Amino acid sequence: MSAAKHDAAQQIEELRAELRHHEHLYYVLDTPEIPDAAYDARMNDLKRLEAEHPELLTPDSPTQRVGGKPAEGFQKAAHSRPMLSLDNAYNEGELRDWDRRVRTRLLGPGSAAVAYEIDESKEDDDEESDRALNAEVSARAEQVHVEYTAELKLDGLSVALRYEPVEDGGSRLALGLTRGDGQIGEDVTTNIRTIRSVPLAISATAIEKAGLPRSFEVRGEVVMPLKGFELLNKEREEQGLSPAVNPRNAAAGTLRTLEPSIVSNRRLVFFAYFLLVEGEYFAVGQSATLDALTALGFRVNPHRERVESVDEMLRFIEKAESQRASLGYEIDGVVLKVDSHAAQQRLGYTGRAPRWAIAYKFAAQTAETAIESITWQVGRTGKVTPVGEVAPVFVGGTTVSRVTLHNWDFIERLGGLRPSDIVEIERGGDVIPKVVRVVKQSENAPIALIAACPECGSQLERTEGEVDWRCVNSDCPAKLRETLLHFGARGVMNIEGLGEAVVAQLLDRGLVHHVADLYALTEEQLVGLERFAEKSAKALLAEIEGSKSAGLARVLMGLGIRFVGERTAQLLAEEFGSVEALMAATVEELERVEEVGPRISESIRAFFARPANVQLVESLKAAGVDMTAEKKQRSTELAGKTFVLTGTLPTLSREEAKQKIEAAGGKVSAAVSKKTSYVVAGEEAGSKLDKARQLGIQELNEAELLALLAGTTPV
Ligand code: IVH
Repeated sequence: MSAAKHDAAQQIEELRAELRHHEHLYYVLDTPEIPDAAYDARMNDLKRLEAEHPELLTPDSPTQRVGGKPAEGFQKAAHSRPMLSLDNAYNEGELRDWDRRVRTRLLGPGSAAVAYEIDESKEDDDEESDRALNAEVSARAEQVHVEYTAELKLDGLSVALRYEPVEDGGSRLALGLTRGDGQIGEDVTTNIRTIRSVPLAISATAIEKAGLPRSFEVRGEVVMPLKGFELLNKEREEQGLSPAVNPRNAAAGTLRTLEPSIVSNRRLVFFAYFLLVEGEYFAVGQSATLDALTALGFRVNPHRERVESVDEMLRFIEKAESQRASLGYEIDGVVLKVDSHAAQQRLGYTGRAPRWAIAYKFAAQTAETAIESITWQVGRTGKVTPVGEVAPVFVGGTTVSRVTLHNWDFIERLGGLRPSDIVEIERGGDVIPKVVRVVKQSENAPIALIAACPECGSQLERTEGEVDWRCVNSDCPAKLRETLLHFGARGVMNIEGLGEAVVAQLLDRGLVHHVADLYALTEEQLVGLERFAEKSAKALLAEIEGSKSAGLARVLMGLGIRFVGERTAQLLAEEFGSVEALMAATVEELERVEEVGPRISESIRAFFARPANVQLVESLKAAGVDMTAEKKQRSTELAGKTFVLTGTLPTLSREEAKQKIEAAGGKVSAAVSKKTSYVVAGEEAGSKLDKARQLGIQELNEAELLALLAGTTPV
């Protein structure tokens, strides 16, 4: 190796180690030490170095989280041991029964066979002796000392992650499987790789310290945090799609998406709870397992305790219920596991579930309350949404006083709503609860649909075939308020501090008439606002200034073009590279963009056909807002090149490799000929490789293939 290359290799390894360390702090421990921008800068350094030295690229580099797409559908693979489910307990009595069964079985052979249920119809002497025996067994069972681990029951989906050895002595994530039917799961490795709390590689040192062989498996739960869930639904709504019903479904849907960049944006979280080697539990017990997983760098849910009695379990359950509303992700109960693996082995399994664990399920989060009134909220697009104001009621860990009513059709389907109607409400994964049904109708007159916008008084309109009523007045103050809030929101222009109170004041004082006016605000103007001192004014101005470089995709989202959510905005920005090019694009050109069909292209054309919107773009540009993006072009370098795949690649499946090559413009062929440009060889490559060597065709390993592809995508 040349000295220069040696330096680069060392620098790359150092950067990777540093990035992994910060990813661990941020995504696993939730205690970041450096600002996001510093992380991004190091990531960019690494990307640059890897581009300069493609031969040094490895699939477990932090730059490689979002890789190729799984082709059509997912491959299936068998689990190392079945992924079972859990038996449930719904109340204290059922929990006590389970604990007693566990203790009795642990007493030794025969004990469990004793009848607990005494047959009351039997009136002979047997009854007496049964009772005596039972009493004796119970008394002895009570003396058995059992330790349990109490964990939260995360409302997500379970996955199995397999790690396999790599040359440097560590291990690398090789396979991620969904539960599937418990025996066979789906290979969702490419999507799992995008989850930041899943380590892509584990160092040799960490593995040695844990005393773990280098092939092992980690099981746990993938969940979608509530914040991500809300963002997802907001975006789905903007795209005219129906909202996901709860975070679990959304997480499951996301993991099965055939687009890793989407998975990557949704910020799923993985919590680990089992560690297996060759299908057997590693470590002496559940607590030790969780400690080992933490030491290996996995995210382990911090809410766990060792408990030794049902009373302690109940205390843990109570605590979990009180924490439930502030966790930031959904849980639907508590899981109790006998801690010792030796004891687990003695307890064994029923057909579908272990005897050594049980899920204590929280009671359904429903409640009854009285409707007080309906208020109407005007959104950014003028859509008017009814919201039910209800008598405050405690449900699912929080006090609820507002419920969603979706739209007027929904109210009609409930049979109308009257003040003082008693309704059943349900708090699922969604943060705002929904009305399930009217339990008792009151004598009052039904609440009517409003005819005029509650904020500006103009007549509401409804387009044929749509359910929503809208305020079409473009000067409606509510629309401007919502537009400003959306523009500054997280994930859009990211203007921290531009919240409801500030926006309301800016509008009241006539300081802002459209989003571009934000860029003309001065410190004097802001200092005049309520609860605004020089420091907060300066901070807000700095945020506004910073948003100028958010880039075209963010601006497009911020403009609020109907149906243009995060992903579409991103694709449009990459395709057109500037707002001018986008504005000049014809319907055909727009529809050449992936995922853009007639509905979206129409909406974009209609948006830029309005002079007020063109004016807005001009003002933003004049204010210095960057409306350009790096254009993504498929390099033509690989066009016409033919690849032959042979043998097993370390991380990519055949299908994934093929997909990646084709995405870069190359072709994959089954047989080697003089026309073959490259042969990609993995382990146990066969006669194809021999033939390629005879013909002098260039050989690539997986890392070299990835490097070749990486060098060809962004321009
Ligand atoms: S242990 C043998 N621990 O609940 C299966 N499961 O209802 C043992 N779940 O399929 C699973 N949190 O998807 C375990 N802390 C936790 C869990 C948990 C959520 C899920 C898991 C399982 C389902 C069973």
